[in-house]
Amino acid sequence: MSNIELPVIVLNFKTYIEATGSRALKLARIAENVSLKTGVTIIVCPQFTDIPSITSSLNIPVFAQHIDPIKPGSHTGHILPEAVKAIGVKGTLLNHSERRLLLSDIDFAIRRAMEVDLLTLVCANNVSVASAIALLAPWAIAIEPPELIGTGRAVSKVKPEVVSGAVKAIKNINSSVHVLCGAGIASAEDVEAALKLGAEGVLLASAFVKSKDPEKTLLSMAEAVANVS
Ligand code: G3P
Repeated sequence: MSNIELPVIVLNFKTYIEATGSRALKLARIAENVSLKTGVTIIVCPQFTDIPSITSSLNIPVFAQHIDPIKPGSHTGHILPEAVKAIGVKGTLLNHSERRLLLSDIDFAIRRAMEVDLLTLVCANNVSVASAIALLAPWAIAIEPPELIGTGRAVSKVKPEVVSGAVKAIKNINSSVHVLCGAGIASAEDVEAALKLGAEGVLLASAFVKSKDPEKTLLSMAEAVANVS
């Protein structure tokens, strides 16, 4: 199983036009530079079509945004875990609020990911769902209240009890599952608050992808991680 050092900053490129095609590669290069400068682990999650250009030219961990809970065979239009593994990714997001799965599908997708040696970062919209997912033993869970996604109102500031509650609940069930938080994370202070609540990293998108100066934004966040850890 691949080793990812924590705490970590995970950047979800979603399907933002600012993070599509050559712009995805440019943002991933910025993430690589910031990671090298600060020593903080930064993972990027580009669209599938942009993965090969990044994994072939940069040395930064790349996660897919999703895999389907399937085995090789007749599944037109699905994303096969083996296919994702073959283009150099280290892991995958699962059950993002914008790409939700049934609990049974999350379970099978985690098993399939383990079979092909992919880490799983599974999103949960609340503490109860996070607890259910912890029983499935993914690599990590990201607690993300959907109502804060894309708002710039950080979960670590606006709903700190959700982050600390998720940390407590998940670690009680399985202490080896890592806990991240996301939704609205927009500044170094938001990142610092997340780590102080017990999160082992953050998952964010718009504050980086849509920033006028993505390097400056990310550098300040990574410096916050380096100072806390
Ligand atoms: O996957 C990260 C995400 O859903 C949070 O989005 O834009 O609030 O950082 P954002």
